[in-house]
Amino acid sequence: MEQKIPEVLQDAAGAVITDRKVWEQQRGRIYELLCDQEYGFLPPPPEQISFRTVERQEDFCASKAVYERVEIRVQVSGKEFAFPVHAVVPAVVSEKPMAFVHINFRSNVPDEYMPSEELADGGFAVFSFGYEDVTKDNRDFSDGLAALFPAGSRNGNAPGKIALWAWAALRVMDYLQTREDVDLKNVAVVGHSRLGKTALLAAASDERFAFAISNDSGCSGAAVTRGKKGERVADITKMFPYWFCENYKAYAGREEEMPFDQHFLLALIAPRKLYVSSAQEDQWADPPAELAGCRAASPVYGLYGLGGLVCGEESPEANAVFPEGNIGYHVRKGTHYLSRYDWQRFMEYLRLHRN
Ligand code: GCU
Repeated sequence: MEQKIPEVLQDAAGAVITDRKVWEQQRGRIYELLCDQEYGFLPPPPEQISFRTVERQEDFCASKAVYERVEIRVQVSGKEFAFPVHAVVPAVVSEKPMAFVHINFRSNVPDEYMPSEELADGGFAVFSFGYEDVTKDNRDFSDGLAALFPAGSRNGNAPGKIALWAWAALRVMDYLQTREDVDLKNVAVVGHSRLGKTALLAAASDERFAFAISNDSGCSGAAVTRGKKGERVADITKMFPYWFCENYKAYAGREEEMPFDQHFLLALIAPRKLYVSSAQEDQWADPPAELAGCRAASPVYGLYGLGGLVCGEESPEANAVFPEGNIGYHVRKGTHYLSRYDWQRFMEYLRLHRN
């Protein structure tokens, strides 16, 4: 069943890479390959960026946290676009809080996907944005942020929507650089499902993220594609072609011909921390394929003298948690969802691996 996947630590001539410097060159090539063939290239940074706090509540969550709505305004090709970021920062802290940048399905704070009160109680700050406040989740590339980039023609490697949402997460990271009250060495980018795929691409694109967390990201996320059950490239490029660049469609039903697989994306996060979570009943995402992605990316950590995933079990039981490694993993009972249980594990992982 398990099919052979391309080696991430192999150079163009087929030799095994054992040297960190050689890997770092390879890393650049792999990043370009994934942009060129799967997600499209993220646009360059904006010509101008500014931040404005438009609302502030000191009594948020019974005064345990401060809520701020911040407008991020960018200028690209002379055109402007703004989107809101919702910040919830614990009011009383003994040290600067670690932070999550949450690429969120909703733009309400709090919402069903993001327990901001529990995060604040846990000592974490969270900066979230509603992905559709950036650009709508549809094939319209004339809306929101998408309208700024003359992708019009949607040529082969023009950015799909995942790349645009990831680009917005990088702008939130730009904003964080202005916050002296946040532990900038410990910022995690996190997302669920399509936004888990987005979180991985954001972290692969920007080393300022010390942690990447993808929940139930499945196909074109953390799951190895070859031999994967549930959703396949043909399904995702048929239902959601606009998430990707045009070139990706060529691999529908031809996954074996891909010069990459999803562990390449995971490997780009090394030597930073990666945490992948699955839900046992989420067969569409395929938990074993997500775990396989973590295993296959692990050798890259070895080049830095670090371990990747620490998980001896072939098929872990539901609610098994493997937090020790520089790649952490858990599989939760239940269905496709970003739950309190998942967030609790993310907080524990950040505490355990704080830089
Ligand atoms: C669909 C899609 C998945 C995606 C999911 C989600 O099920 O096929 O790839 O992860 O939506 O974003 O909820």
